[in-house]
Amino acid sequence: MKSQKPSRNLALELVRVTEAAALSAGRFMGRGEKELADKAAVDAMRLVLNSIDMEALVVIGEGEKDEAPMLFNGEVVGSGKPPLVDLAVDPIDGTRPLANGFLNSIATVSIAPRGTMYNPGPFVYMDKIAVGPLAKGQIDIEAPLKDNLERIAKSESKSIKDVTVIILQRPRHDELIKEVRQIGARIRLIPDGDVAAALMTCLPETGIDALLGIGGTPEGVLAACALRAMGGEIQGKLFIRNEEEKKLGLEMGYDLDKVITMDDLVSSSDVFFAATGITDGELLSGVRYTGQAAETQSLVIRGRTGTVRWITAKHNFKKLNPISEIEY
Ligand code: FBP
Repeated sequence: MKSQKPSRNLALELVRVTEAAALSAGRFMGRGEKELADKAAVDAMRLVLNSIDMEALVVIGEGEKDEAPMLFNGEVVGSGKPPLVDLAVDPIDGTRPLANGFLNSIATVSIAPRGTMYNPGPFVYMDKIAVGPLAKGQIDIEAPLKDNLERIAKSESKSIKDVTVIILQRPRHDELIKEVRQIGARIRLIPDGDVAAALMTCLPETGIDALLGIGGTPEGVLAACALRAMGGEIQGKLFIRNEEEKKLGLEMGYDLDKVITMDDLVSSSDVFFAATGITDGELLSGVRYTGQAAETQSLVIRGRTGTVRWITAKHNFKKLNPISEIEY
């Protein structure tokens, strides 16, 4: 029976977290201060996260890769009241572009019921393939690339030459790029930001059909939360950087050869996801500072209902600054 009353949408509270991070970090655009930008984003996130009624265990925190100031793994944030949730944060996905004044840096957060998010352990990177709803169920990260691209093309009723894949521009992807070119698909290379890139596969207006290649494992979990809510799919395989990582992973009980499915990355569809643009990007506009105010654009997604909201917000510094712990 359809008798459920509308319930709390935590994503609508999470968007205040990503907005605060973007407003604080946005001031550092082009200033070459990665660490300071990270700290500003983390501090703002923490403040708003602690105001939300939840007991959130940080499963995907900030810091290890860049040795940045942290919202560290294992920390518990929120007011301490129910619900019990897992939390994934990337206060700045695209620290380099932000520090250098380039496009496509976002602040992002996701929540899912306690015990449902993947813990990447020591593994910084994973190989990924992500697609939108039409190609869901058609991909297999272990299959030859040509098979995957053919299946994606078929499920979207297009030919391979019209399929566009997005890939992080890194030397480690030279072979992948060569192979995609040989197969005949189109390529969009991005300098950073594979959370936004994965999301774009679920938004047909972006023209992106698939994300391929090796990126951050934490970013893979965040992308999985969004894709799960939007009806897409992501698969991964751990990318082992060195013997030490391998040894540690094996000791911790990781199966290094396993295909990591979307269910492994987040096993509940009751997920909440929010992202706010820091610098301008294809997915989201960056923060516009207009003297006594600023405007932000955010994406707010709820898994249970599949509702996707684009929220444009005007923040009034004259009113905010006297009452806020953060100086905007
Ligand atoms: P951060 O800004 O959070 O460091 O991540 C940016 C990013 O481009 C991610 O989107 C991506 O998953 C990862 O870096 C790739 O790592 P690397 O830059 O080491 O290739």
